[in-house]
Amino acid sequence: MAETTHLIGLLLGTEDDWPTAFETLVSRLGPITDASGHNHRIATERITMEPFDLRDRPRYGLVIDRLAYWYYLPREWLKKVALMNDVYLLNSPFTFQAMEKHAAYCAMIRLGLKVPPTVLVPHKDPPDNARFQYTAARYNQPFDLSAIAEQIGYPLFMKPYDGGQWIGVSRVRNREELERAYDDSGRRLMHLQASIEDFDVFARSLSIGPETMVMKFRPEEPMHDRYEVAHDFLSPDLGDEVLTISRLVNAFFRWEFNSCECLVRGDQVHPIDYANASPDVALTSLHYYFPWAMKTLLKWCTFCLVTGRRPQLDLDTRRYFEIGDREDLSYEDKLAAYRRLSDEYFEADRYHDFCASRLSHVDELVLDWVDSADFDRLLVNTVRATYPAHEQERFVAHLRGLVGQWVREQGRDPIAG
Ligand SMILES: Nc1ncnc2c1ncn2[C@@H]1O[C@H](COP(=O)(O)OP(=O)(O)O)[C@@H](O)[C@H]1O
Ligand SMILES: [Mg+2]
Repeated sequence: MAETTHLIGLLLGTEDDWPTAFETLVSRLGPITDASGHNHRIATERITMEPFDLRDRPRYGLVIDRLAYWYYLPREWLKKVALMNDVYLLNSPFTFQAMEKHAAYCAMIRLGLKVPPTVLVPHKDPPDNARFQYTAARYNQPFDLSAIAEQIGYPLFMKPYDGGQWIGVSRVRNREELERAYDDSGRRLMHLQASIEDFDVFARSLSIGPETMVMKFRPEEPMHDRYEVAHDFLSPDLGDEVLTISRLVNAFFRWEFNSCECLVRGDQVHPIDYANASPDVALTSLHYYFPWAMKTLLKWCTFCLVTGRRPQLDLDTRRYFEIGDREDLSYEDKLAAYRRLSDEYFEADRYHDFCASRLSHVDELVLDWVDSADFDRLLVNTVRATYPAHEQERFVAHLRGLVGQWVREQGRDPIAG
């Protein structure tokens, strides 16, 4: 029977844990038969850096990118393969670069979401450009940082408009702290944002295609303890709201692998960080949730490749704004309408049908592997690569315990742990 092999390219930096997991699962997937009876195989390859001719034809059908946010050669290669070769990308290099946290706030505010009051202030130190002094003298308005802060109210957050990994983020309680934080910000452009104090839940959701895992996050804990294994920590309505907001932002910007942060206080959901398109999927931080992430990544990539889903680089912001701008619709009505648009973008029904009819063996396959000595080796190697010698035993036990809990909940006793 005729067969097509689809190659997934992995654009990686230092991480080795989830790529190894993903490669292993792909190698165990076996052929997938589409509705017309044609067989498809999926393979993976780690992409290496080299000069490229703009007219080269890439061998990849899909690329998972973890690198382009700081490394420009692969970034430009991604743009080339997106524009010229229709390679399917997780995520679009265009919106990921242009639409940082700031752009996500802007879109979400227009769409009616409850982003805390946020002001962008000019950078403290001038850009390194000979024209700056002249331009600033002519056009820059003096401004009173302290008055802006008073207006927002203390405590507030000062954070980079395009930030990540908490770098440059400070919680500012008074005028002295404000001035210190601003002095420290240098050439980085900063937002001042009202703080959501005494929130009940920090919900961090990881979305892959049309699937979302909403997790309870504890930012004050060390990385390995930040995701709490908790299931009913939000009411069904709030859980659904967080999930809808995550999918909405992703569909709006064409992000298909992204993590999103919401602070929930009472019955109000406040999005604070919505552009993490190279999301943390480390085994050591996701632990219990790691098998879900790998399984979903496998399913979504397979769906895109086997069904020939076309990458959609163009945004259709207008359809979303037409809903957001309506005054006759309530917040709930808008969310319901956004949910329909995002389900449509992600082809949610078709994806779930595909998983049921073509990928019904995947859950078992992932469980078998996570419950195997091979996975345990990965776990031990990852701990060895991540923690100093005197902490390794503790972290192996910690991870075995949490992954074992996942295995047990799938209805089986773990062999390790
Ligand atoms: N408006 C806010 N209210 C309360 N806490 C906030 C707010 N903004 C940021 N934080 C806290 O600061 C952390 C880092 O800010 P965030 O916007 O997520 O930046 P980064 O992109 O660096 O992760 C958040 O995880 C949260 O704990
Ligand atoms: Mg964050």
